[in-house]
Amino acid sequence: VRYWAVVPAAGIGSRMASDRPKQYLPLQHKTVIEHSLQHLLSHERIEAVYIPLAEHDGYWPDLRISRHPKIKTLLGGKERADSVLNTLTAMADVAGDQDWVLVHDAARPCLRKQSVHLLLDTLSGESRGGILANPVNDTIKKVANEDEILETVDRQQLWQAQTPQMFRFGLLRDSLQRALAAGVNITDEASAVEWAGHSAKVVCGPSDNIKITRAEDLPLAEFILSRQNE
Ligand code: CTP
Ligand code: MG
Repeated sequence: VRYWAVVPAAGIGSRMASDRPKQYLPLQHKTVIEHSLQHLLSHERIEAVYIPLAEHDGYWPDLRISRHPKIKTLLGGKERADSVLNTLTAMADVAGDQDWVLVHDAARPCLRKQSVHLLLDTLSGESRGGILANPVNDTIKKVANEDEILETVDRQQLWQAQTPQMFRFGLLRDSLQRALAAGVNITDEASAVEWAGHSAKVVCGPSDNIKITRAEDLPLAEFILSRQNE
């Protein structure tokens, strides 16, 4: 079996409200997406990194990394799950059903090299796959009617999903295809796999693998990366 990576980068970053999609914002002498790609590109087991981009993306071609021999770009879709499914469909002539695919957000720049290794080491013997995640630290409330607390959810069972999410190529493509065709709201790869009735694992990683979503996340990522490089 071989290993492939997909880094969805076709979003516009509406919650970030910056002058350009958040994956192209500057962060520690590079752009966000260059950090996100770093440890996938350098991993010797990963054959190639596929990146779905938005139509008329004028930022990607300006990056030095865009000419990296391991990178292939293509057109993304309306939602993140569409971008990923478009990519898996395009990969069908090179990837086998039992191959592994790691899907990692372009907006998640603080992924550590050790976490990529941990994910591969932990899941390669599994039949389906799983995700990098970490246990929820806060007390979580279920709220209705805008501000009314219904209950406190038992935190013991709650984990926060991160990326990379690593699944068998054929299983992930089929699960995404079926879930999207059924109109299910799919926010990560594991939710498609779960919806299709398959079990998946969590692999506990550090909680600083944050996703850049809002403006305040960028200085936080700056701090996390500066500490990782110490
Ligand atoms: N993404 C994608 N295709 C889409 C939407 C999102 O490839 N149609 C990618 C984003 O570029 C990002 C990752 O999926 O790297 C996670 O999505 P999210 O954080 O929601 O990014 P955006 O959709 O760009 O942000 P927002 O939801 O605030 O608009
Ligand atoms: Mg989004």
